[in-house]
Amino acid sequence: MLSAIVNAACEAGDEVVYAWRSFEAYPIMVALSGARSVQVPVTEDGRHDLQQMADAVTRDTRVVLVCSPNNPTGTAVHADEWERFLGAVPRDVLVVLDEAYLEFVRDADSPDAIEVYRRHPNVVVLRTFSKAYGLAGLRVGYAVARPEIAVSLRSCVIPFAVSDMAIQAVVASYAAQDELLERVEALVGERTRVQDGLRELGYAVPQTQANFVWLQLGAKTEEFAEAADAVGLSVRPFAGEGVRVSVEAPEANTRLLEVAERFRERLSG
Ligand SMILES: Cc1ncc(COP(=O)(O)O)c(C=O)c1O
Repeated sequence: MLSAIVNAACEAGDEVVYAWRSFEAYPIMVALSGARSVQVPVTEDGRHDLQQMADAVTRDTRVVLVCSPNNPTGTAVHADEWERFLGAVPRDVLVVLDEAYLEFVRDADSPDAIEVYRRHPNVVVLRTFSKAYGLAGLRVGYAVARPEIAVSLRSCVIPFAVSDMAIQAVVASYAAQDELLERVEALVGERTRVQDGLRELGYAVPQTQANFVWLQLGAKTEEFAEAADAVGLSVRPFAGEGVRVSVEAPEANTRLLEVAERFRERLSG
């Protein structure tokens, strides 16, 4: 869906502004459309710098991508900064809010994206069944957009891109919503335990609202990933920056905290 938006809105030479680091697919999608990526560094605590992002918009900008919660730093944008940002971005620039991890958000300051969309015609909200609904691989999600935007998106999407099987899986997931929400709630509880535990051990962990935590490890990133791998834990390293660790079953999370505790002495070395 995201690639359809970028393809529909951009021609060669146009610009797409987004935070970095963010979802790895953004630069690929932008490059494939022929547009140019304008990456605005996230703040030290892994948050979108919405002021800098608004300042990065030029006459050539067609789309701004906002990932909230941000993959991989986990942080969510807040309603007040989001409102200021939308006030600063010209109305003919599409602002895409990628809410792939929405169901895990517990931050009361997070915006109600649909309410914001109703007031701002240039806002497009993206959601997916890949994360909380566990349907990754079926590639099914949706966009909330004004009809005129939706029409141009459809023209850039392959016909029948969503299979019958994927639709049936979504319907079944909705039927099992209570069970699903219980699972998400349990994960959020574990997320708090993991985040607090890592912080107590002295790690810099941004406030996560997703189903993962981000450890800023700089030069120690790959070493940490190897230490985790050695005890059967798979983490996602981004060399020189940090690792994204998915919150899993309690036993795996405890093992992660144990690895992090043992690794502490190597942090200063
Ligand atoms: C921020 C973000 N957006 C979108 C997606 C992909 O969603 P889908 O599987 O619906 O293409 C992901 C998956 O990793 C993601 O992290």
